[in-house]
Amino acid sequence: MRFHETFRQQVPITNEYTYLNHAAISPTPLPVLYESLRYLLDISRFGTIPVNQEENDDFFHMREKVARLINASPNEISFIPNTSFGINVVAHGIDLKEGDEVITDNLEFPAVTFPFFKLTKKGVNVKLVKPKIESFEDDILSAITSKTRLIAISHVSFNTGVKVDLKRISKEAKSVGAYTLIDTIQSAGATKINVKDSDIDFAVAGGYKWLMSPQGSGFMYVKEGLLEDPPFYGWKSSSTYLEFNAENFKLEKGPRRFEIGTIDVGANLALAKACEILSQNMEEINSRVSELSSFTIRYAKEKGFDVITPEDKKAGIVIVKVKDPKTVVNELLKRKIIVSPRGIGIRISTHFYNTEEEIIGTIDEIKKISNS
Ligand SMILES: Cc1ncc(COP(=O)(O)O)c(C=O)c1O
Repeated sequence: MRFHETFRQQVPITNEYTYLNHAAISPTPLPVLYESLRYLLDISRFGTIPVNQEENDDFFHMREKVARLINASPNEISFIPNTSFGINVVAHGIDLKEGDEVITDNLEFPAVTFPFFKLTKKGVNVKLVKPKIESFEDDILSAITSKTRLIAISHVSFNTGVKVDLKRISKEAKSVGAYTLIDTIQSAGATKINVKDSDIDFAVAGGYKWLMSPQGSGFMYVKEGLLEDPPFYGWKSSSTYLEFNAENFKLEKGPRRFEIGTIDVGANLALAKACEILSQNMEEINSRVSELSSFTIRYAKEKGFDVITPEDKKAGIVIVKVKDPKTVVNELLKRKIIVSPRGIGIRISTHFYNTEEEIIGTIDEIKKISNS
């Protein structure tokens, strides 16, 4: 049996539902769930003992597993409660001034754009590009000027499924000395990410989508040498934090400097476990995700649907155009098929352990509902 077949047996939802909604929230696989439960149970039985055990290397063992997934160094990985927090850390950490430009776009999830709106109050120019799906990268890149300080975009778009060529974006950004901040919540765990090769500066992701981890888990990658002085300080931002001395603050140099206070250890232990499993099988996952989304596009077109997501620039998200997506999604739920309505279509987001049969069943049902 190949990895995706054995893994499927550890995802209990597959016994009851056709679940093609990983771009929203993923069902937690058993080994990932057990990692959280083990920790919570240990705390219930032994209080501070397991906490101190997990923390005694400053969560290095967890950072290492996340780092491996994206080819970063463990010292470049911090744990964050959600994607929005990480984006705010960068937005307020890179010291943007009046007249500086941030490039983002109107196809982004608001978690990417809203943090920058606050900066407009101090005169930062937030350029909200209106890109076309077919020319996304060209449209973003043509907005760059000598005043651009940051490009903030998603790796994979939540509402079109487009996967962006990060290498191309960061190369052009570097040519004017701008940073790149990439929201990887729709790509991490589904498609290969190599922060070194693509030369991006910041990447953030909550763990609860393609990384199949609990809500409250998440990571932020900050390239070594950047944001040495974070925008917020908390007791854990000090290298002296275990002295509990309110007068003695020494800025921490490691990735804990962004963590401010207590992190959700149980959720992030689960995330680290998921990253360990996924990174050991990333080749297979990457190609399965791509094959299944290609299959979805092909089969939906065969059945007469328009598909918004381009075949040559996608990861795991496919948007199929239908009339009245919300009604169709509710009807599908009655048939134990879970997908999401997004804009003018239905978002089908297949992870590597889904099957072609599940996709056929889903699209056939969408056809029947649409015809009735
Ligand atoms: C691209 C993108 N970014 C961020 C989020 C969610 O942000 P957060 O983790 O802060 O809740 C989503 C959720 O759908 C998303 O699609």
